[in-house]
Amino acid sequence: MPTPPLFIADLVVERGDKRIVDGLSLSLAPGEIYALLGGNGAGKSTTLFAILGFLERQGGSLTVGGVDVAANPDAVRRQVAYLPENVALYDHLTARENVDYFLKVAGCPRSRADVDAGFEGVGLAAAAWDERAARFSKGMRQKTAIALALLRETPLMLLDEPTSGLDPAAAGDFHRLLETLGRRGVAVLMVTHDLLGAADTADRIGLIQAGRIAREWTASPTVPRFDLNALHSGFASAR
Ligand SMILES: Nc1ncnc2c1ncn2[C@@H]1O[C@H](COP(=O)(O)OP(=O)(O)OP(=O)(O)O)[C@@H](O)[C@H]1O
Ligand SMILES: [Mg+2]
Repeated sequence: MPTPPLFIADLVVERGDKRIVDGLSLSLAPGEIYALLGGNGAGKSTTLFAILGFLERQGGSLTVGGVDVAANPDAVRRQVAYLPENVALYDHLTARENVDYFLKVAGCPRSRADVDAGFEGVGLAAAAWDERAARFSKGMRQKTAIALALLRETPLMLLDEPTSGLDPAAAGDFHRLLETLGRRGVAVLMVTHDLLGAADTADRIGLIQAGRIAREWTASPTVPRFDLNALHSGFASAR
């Protein structure tokens, strides 16, 4: 068995005196797109923080490409591109300067042509590429951050509500981009509240409840990929 890009078994994460993640298990194969859904405060972002080693775990196993994040967080972070829930850009820098800066910090500088292609791929209007981020709308910030994450070219991507702030056309473009990544072998764990978007793109959809994956659905090889009624009632019953 090749080493999975992400392996999580019986993960426990506490914040303060609260057990937020409680026995969560989830593994991704190369090229797999997994959509993680669940109510506000269910522990989705907390799970991503634990994968990145920003939060310690109190139990379970967690490896990225076979590396334990508790033992070697830097090695893990080199393999992971992360799109945070609240995108932070430097307002006094342009989109290009932001991306160049963060890529340099991550140790993977890219050529001007690559960055142009990245912006193009996420549908950031060319007029914005060399404009200061201070003037950016939420969606423009999101597109800049998505381009940055894609330009890292890591084997694993963690995306926290990537389509929040994107207009419907941009969200559609984003989902097509994800499929391209999947075909290239990149594993994607995407936190989202967009059930339809998840059903459109994901290979698996998991519902997090009481700190673990309470329900999981796998895409069928034939259309429709997911039974939307079953998904809706699964989510409704979880409330
Ligand atoms: N800094 C913190 N200290 C203590 N508890 C926290 C902290 N941040 C978040 N929590 C708690 O952790 C729980 C899970 O939060 P988390 O941000 O993981 O939820 P989420 O599933 O990402 O929700 P949302 O859909 O709203 O983004 C919540 O109960 C929240 O109150
Ligand atoms: Mg969250």
